[in-house]
Amino acid sequence: MQIISTTQELRSRLKSEPSVAFVPTMGNLHEGHLALVRQAREHGRCVVASIFVNPLQFGPSEDFSSYPRTFEQDCEKLAGLADVVFAPTVADMYPEPQQVYVEPPPVASELCGAFRPGHFRGVATVVLKLFNIVRPQAAVFGKKDYQQLHVIRAMVRQLNLPVGIVAGETLRAADGLALSSRNAYLGAEERAEAVRLYRNLSRIRESIIRGGRDFSALEQCAIDDLVAHGWRVDYVSVRAAVSLAPAVAEDRDLVVLAAAWLGKTRLIDNLEICLSADNGL
Ligand code: PAJ
Repeated sequence: MQIISTTQELRSRLKSEPSVAFVPTMGNLHEGHLALVRQAREHGRCVVASIFVNPLQFGPSEDFSSYPRTFEQDCEKLAGLADVVFAPTVADMYPEPQQVYVEPPPVASELCGAFRPGHFRGVATVVLKLFNIVRPQAAVFGKKDYQQLHVIRAMVRQLNLPVGIVAGETLRAADGLALSSRNAYLGAEERAEAVRLYRNLSRIRESIIRGGRDFSALEQCAIDDLVAHGWRVDYVSVRAAVSLAPAVAEDRDLVVLAAAWLGKTRLIDNLEICLSADNGL
């Protein structure tokens, strides 16, 4: 596995590669990230993972400077899974002030976008830059960041980018908590409490599978339970899986998404609800 830190060096390393599969990350890697890297192997001869904490997608009062940076351990985890780790510096990615941005679709201002203005613009812009540097035939993104995946897919379709987007399932801890780099912020008590987010999403999913269609009542019930246990809830929302529009009773493919704060840690999670499939209930 090669570790490359400049755009120029990466270009020359990949020049003769017939097909590249790419996994962009911000590092502090866990099994969820590694599963995406393993999945990438099925989509290209050369697997590239990037590690770059992108300042453009963090708000002024967000955790850019404190975001966990564990480069050495990340490289150890990637050894044997990736062929190339691309870890550019901020100066290499942004040699001049970034004044050209990807304007994401309106849905990027809802859900997480309503609470993190400019976040998805920053994500879409850096992902387009990374695509142009790496030139992958396929790129793998996790469903854990469902709205991000939606925005990237829209960008690829609407800007005719020659890259296939592959979705990876969310990896969870044994109790159900979605793996996340930000889980490292949780104290022991918070970590035990954190699973409540997933439990509430599961409850909503089960209610809908059993025929529940009063989505706002289901959302409110989850919000009340979280608030009663000390959470600050940004949103709990049932949406149509393909468009991310607010769900209507006729929708068959749904997703319930949530973001909430436990102390100083913002957690997000989601569950897909496919009413046409056998859900085993
Ligand atoms: P990061 O949060 O590091 O996530 C990198 C990729 O890992 C994303 O596609 C994310 O959805 C996926 N991922 C995170 N937790 C996961 C889990 N528990 N199971 C499966 N996949 C998981 O997302 C970003 O970085 C950035 O916004 C980025 C796309 C790199 C742009 O800067």
